[in-house]
Amino acid sequence: MPRSPVGRETDRVDGRLKVTGAAEYSGDYLAPNLAHAHLVTSTIARGKVTGFDTAAALASPGVLHVHTAPNNPLRLYETTGQAAAFSENYIPLKTDVVHFHGQAIAMVVAETPEQARDAAALVTATYEVQQPRTSVTDEPRVPAGPTISGAPSSLNILAPGVGSIDAALAASDVVVEAEFHQNVQHHAAMEPHAVLAVWEGDDRVTLHAGAQIPAAYALGMAQRLGVPAPNVRLITKYVGGGFGARVVLWSDTPLAAAAARELGRPVRLVLTREQMFTLTGHRSHLTQTVRLGASRDGVLNALSHRSVAERPTTMSFTMTPAHSMSDALYRTPNLHVDAQLAVLDIPGSRAMRGPNEAPGGFALETAMDELAVATGVDPVELRLRNYAATSPSTNLPWSSKHLDECYRVGAERFGWADRSATPRARVDGQWLYGTGMATAIYPAARRAGFAVGIRLREDDTAVVSTGVSDLGTGGGTVVAISGADALGIPMQRITPEIGDTYLPPGAPAVGSSNTHATVPLVVDAARNVIAELKRVAVTANRSPWQGAEVSDLRYERGILHGLGRSMTFGRLLAAIGSPGIYMESSPLGAPIPGVVHHSFGAHFCEVRVNRFTGEARITRFTTVADVGRVINAKAARSQLVGGVIFGIGHALLEENHLELATGRLANSTLADYLVPVNADIPDIDVHMLDRPDPLLTGPLGDGTEEVGTASLGARGLGEIGTVGSAAAVGNAVYNATGIRVHNVPITPDKLIEHL
Ligand code: MOS
Repeated sequence: MPRSPVGRETDRVDGRLKVTGAAEYSGDYLAPNLAHAHLVTSTIARGKVTGFDTAAALASPGVLHVHTAPNNPLRLYETTGQAAAFSENYIPLKTDVVHFHGQAIAMVVAETPEQARDAAALVTATYEVQQPRTSVTDEPRVPAGPTISGAPSSLNILAPGVGSIDAALAASDVVVEAEFHQNVQHHAAMEPHAVLAVWEGDDRVTLHAGAQIPAAYALGMAQRLGVPAPNVRLITKYVGGGFGARVVLWSDTPLAAAAARELGRPVRLVLTREQMFTLTGHRSHLTQTVRLGASRDGVLNALSHRSVAERPTTMSFTMTPAHSMSDALYRTPNLHVDAQLAVLDIPGSRAMRGPNEAPGGFALETAMDELAVATGVDPVELRLRNYAATSPSTNLPWSSKHLDECYRVGAERFGWADRSATPRARVDGQWLYGTGMATAIYPAARRAGFAVGIRLREDDTAVVSTGVSDLGTGGGTVVAISGADALGIPMQRITPEIGDTYLPPGAPAVGSSNTHATVPLVVDAARNVIAELKRVAVTANRSPWQGAEVSDLRYERGILHGLGRSMTFGRLLAAIGSPGIYMESSPLGAPIPGVVHHSFGAHFCEVRVNRFTGEARITRFTTVADVGRVINAKAARSQLVGGVIFGIGHALLEENHLELATGRLANSTLADYLVPVNADIPDIDVHMLDRPDPLLTGPLGDGTEEVGTASLGARGLGEIGTVGSAAAVGNAVYNATGIRVHNVPITPDKLIEHL
């Protein structure tokens, strides 16, 4: 009798394929008669292309075509409706307008990748140049408008009799005000953006490309290419990291597909690492102002959080960093959240690794640390004093919230009680030691419109199919685990089938929601396929139960029992000569009204800062997360560790310098854009509370169910590690040095002059 694999440490189902190199990523696929494309990008940020010199490129070996903007035979069109929200608002190579530095303005197609790249280097362009708008301090600014979830990005909630947030702040005993700035940050996923496009005729195409929302990506491609949506098949089996960079349909995939159609041959396009910095998005540079007003014992009376972020001219939608921390975390009678966007001539920015919450969390949780210092209240105690039992913006209760336990368990594991609140209290040789903490919160949106199919086969195995992509997170393994749990059979007998838009539509791999969107569908598909199995058992010729009632049968752990007989589903299917039975999940019901859903966590960091060089090194880190039911303890831990590493990068290393005069992102290489490496990261202590959240995913079983339901009650955890972790680092740096740095990353130059 198999135990349910839910909650155990399970290896990834594709782990061996990945470490042996057998897993094929988008750029690994071959096709007969394959040609290769390479993009040429703009060297100005705003203006027009007035001409090209392509003679040298055309004369170069192996070159088949040089497509230049705006006159070329490529058939590319606008995106509309929902697809427009997930793509850029210009048609690649169809305009002479340059919207940003690094925009694709020409494309060379050649017999080999090297020939395409070399010829692309020979293409030169002339421009009519305009002064770009590049800074979030520039005008014009526009209100951010509703967030992607439809919630307002600006809020002004005032207690009765209070005239304004400024009045509420002025009436507070203690006021903390801080302004924050951060530069552009990048996803820096390991796998380059790559696409292979293979056409059948002129209107049916198969694409191999990494996508976080495969269905939306394929729909956008159909619109870009002017073909019916069902004619685009997107295969996205293995993906080397998303982090938000594969949410949007950028220019690379449409260009490669259009080039392939024009040429009548398959075309592959792989972006260079440098091109990824401008063509596949980034996290907006932004300024934030947080103002906190509190009583002398640290109880909040007013919280104001304003942000100004980018609205690149090529994006019809962007992010709002202030709102989704500050509208959800602390109880306060007066709450003001405001999000503004500056319209800029810079590359498209979009979701990145806790898109709003990670930068917003740095600001809010740094300011809370300053309030702790100002009031003399311990930072953990301060957060408990301001604990929100209901959502501050809506007053609704949470489906499940154990953040207080995260604080307590985290403080205990970390040894928080041993710290001194006084900066520079602990010195060891040339190192100053300090500790800091911060909170994590991330919305757990329930999503509908997706499906899972299960096929029971005559060899007692089952295939669980859904079009989700696994970004390296272990999403495919979650499908296998919850399939094994729901059907009550060992995981070895489950084949997860994912990453293809010709499968039942998969949930998006965004917003830490893939697991809690997919798991209930797996359980429901299992229910449906078991019901179908029984129906077949009582109707099929050669079934021992032919003519019996469905109610005579009971399914348990892969076996049908009834009327004194037992048979595995495989034996039954073999006996009746069925190649297998297949059923899909029913549509997910509407979310339960009257509750809000978030995941939570608490971070504790110890840092040492060199007194002479200003170098900060993380020495210890503890994260305790409240993420509902944990499906795979191993992959979940890995996700949280990865998130904390992102936070450490955010705090200490990651930034791209936007040259304000030219709009050029100056350090767009992985040599110059620093991300943490192993030497930067200590062992990270991760603990998950494992408290199921059935209101998010549907009711848990009552023990009489025939399907396993242990995998229900899961809640997202992909981004909870990265929200707040940068603030925990910064707060520890303050405790070590007495220096408060508001502009991340906290590089040695920002510390050394004050040490
Ligand atoms: Mo994520 S930044 O929601 O892809």
